[in-house]
Order: sequence, then C-alpha cells, then structure tokens
Amino acid sequence: MKIIYDWFLYTELIIAVPIFILLMFIRAPYGKFTLKKWGPAINPKAGWFIMELPAVLIPLYFFLHSGRITNPYSLLFIAVWELHYFQRTFIYPFRLSSGSHGMPIAILVFSGFFNLINGTINGYGVFTLGGIGGTTADIIRIIFGCLIFFSGFIINLHSDHILRNLRAPGESGYKIPQEGLFRYVCSPNYLGEIIEWTGWAVMTLTPASAAFLLFTAANLVPRAVANLRWYRSEFPDFPPARKAIIPGIL
Ligand SMILES: NC(=O)c1ccc[n+]([C@@H]2O[C@H](COP(=O)([O-])OP(=O)(O)OC[C@H]3O[C@@H](n4cnc5c(N)ncnc54)[C@H](OP(=O)(O)O)[C@@H]3O)[C@@H](O)[C@H]2O)c1
Repeated sequence: MKIIYDWFLYTELIIAVPIFILLMFIRAPYGKFTLKKWGPAINPKAGWFIMELPAVLIPLYFFLHSGRITNPYSLLFIAVWELHYFQRTFIYPFRLSSGSHGMPIAILVFSGFFNLINGTINGYGVFTLGGIGGTTADIIRIIFGCLIFFSGFIINLHSDHILRNLRAPGESGYKIPQEGLFRYVCSPNYLGEIIEWTGWAVMTLTPASAAFLLFTAANLVPRAVANLRWYRSEFPDFPPARKAIIPGIL
C-alpha cells in the first residue's frame, strides 16, 4: 500500500503546478464556462454525487482498517472529513438550483479520478501513517486547525447557499451575488474551501493533507480569477472594488 500511496502523493504534488499554470489560461469547462466541444454532459446532481462518492468511501475504509478507530484524534479527523464530504455528496447536489448547467462527463471523470487519488492519500496518509497526537502542542494545533476548518466550512456553505438562491425556479441565467462575502470577492465559496483544507492540513500535519491543500488552491485560485474577469465582462455594473478570492488583495 505504501508504494501506491507514494505514487499517488507524488502525482498529486507534481500535477498541481502544471494544473495551476494551465488553468490560468484555460477555464475548466463546466458551469458558466461550459463548452460543447468538451463532449456530452449529464444531470449535475448525478454528476456531483458520482464524482464525490469516492471521497466519502475511501478515507472511511482506511479509517476502519487503521486499527485506530477508538483513537480520539482519528475519530475527530474522520468526523471532520466526512462532515465536508457527506455534505458535498449527499446534500449539495440535491439542493442545486434546477437551472444549473449539466456536468460534462470529462469533468466528472477527471474529478472522480482526483477524488480516488486524494481520498487514498488522505485516508492512508492520515489514518495509518499520520501521527496520533498526544502532546499539549499537538492538542493546541489540532484545536486551532479545527477552528480554521469550521470557519472555512461555514463560509463555503453560506456562499453556496447564496449562489443557489440567485435563480428563481425555472431561471437559468446569471446574476451578480450581493450578499455575505460576495460583497468583497466574487468566489467566497472557493475561499471557504481553501480555508477548510488549510485547517485540515494544520490539524493532521501530513504530506497528504498538504498536497490536498496545494492542489485545491492550484485549482480554485485560477478559477476565481477567471470568474472575476467573466463577471466584469458580462456585467458593466459589476462592483469595481470586488476582488477574485482574497478580500482587498487578489
Ligand atoms: N476542492 C476543490 O478542489 C473543489 C473544486 C471545485 C469545486 N469545489 C466546491 O464545489 C462547490 C461548487 O463549485 P463550482 O465550481 O461548481 O461553483 P460555481 O461555479 O460557483 O457554481 C455553483 C452553483 O451556483 C450557480 N451559480 C454560480 N454563479 C452564479 C450566478 N452568478 N448566478 C446564478 N447562479 C450561479 C451554478 O450554476 P451553473 O452550474 O449553471 O453555472 C451552480 O449551480 C463549491 O463549494 C466549491 O468550493 C471544490
């Protein structure tokens, strides 16, 4: 298993850099950037469910086979991970607005494959290879990481909630979100996601969680920048001071 883990870990770390560069020039073709030439799409609720399911099941498998199922730190880590992925897999897709774009199968395959790799390295890396805590410094760090994670989780949930309520039933167009952290950045849902996985990396302190954070930022920062450009080009009245993802900075 360690060999598979090493391969997956280095793959995720190595591809994060070219993905970041590529996404600064090419917009991932889903949602507002969907392009027909990228092939057929499926219902977004089914798409999100299928591509996120590996991230629920694989770390749970590693946790259950780690021999640490009564360790309080492992229990906290699996609870935090599953909170995010249970929401993302079993709740988020089914609350999407009915006007949401279809999910291109190419995106589903790429993201499902990413969840397979990332779920494996985080499952094995945190629950089998990771430390089991215990010192006062560990406890302080884990509490601090947990607070960061939950701050990001709340920002992410709240921002997704605002987005899904922009459209009235039957509508499929785009509007300018004006509430919550949207007042400062155009992609606070991505900001929340990056804060969540920063908290996870601080809590678990493993190469796997660091790789996940790096990949998430490499994926979502360029998309937030593309979103800001898109809003500015589509809406002449788009608030000029609003940034992409970091209030007042980027
Ligand atoms: N960990 C990671 O690497 C990662 C990667 C991707 C996404 N995520 C998370 O997954 C969630 C969804 O991401 P996403 O990229 O799909 O978000 P998104 O592009 O902002 O879209 C989210 C939903 O809101 C709708 N929407 C977006 N902007 C709108 C607007 N201006 N007016 C009306 N409706 C609008 C979209 O409809 P359309 O589909 O019609 O555009 C879609 O239904 C987020 O919480 C994100 O953080 C995580």
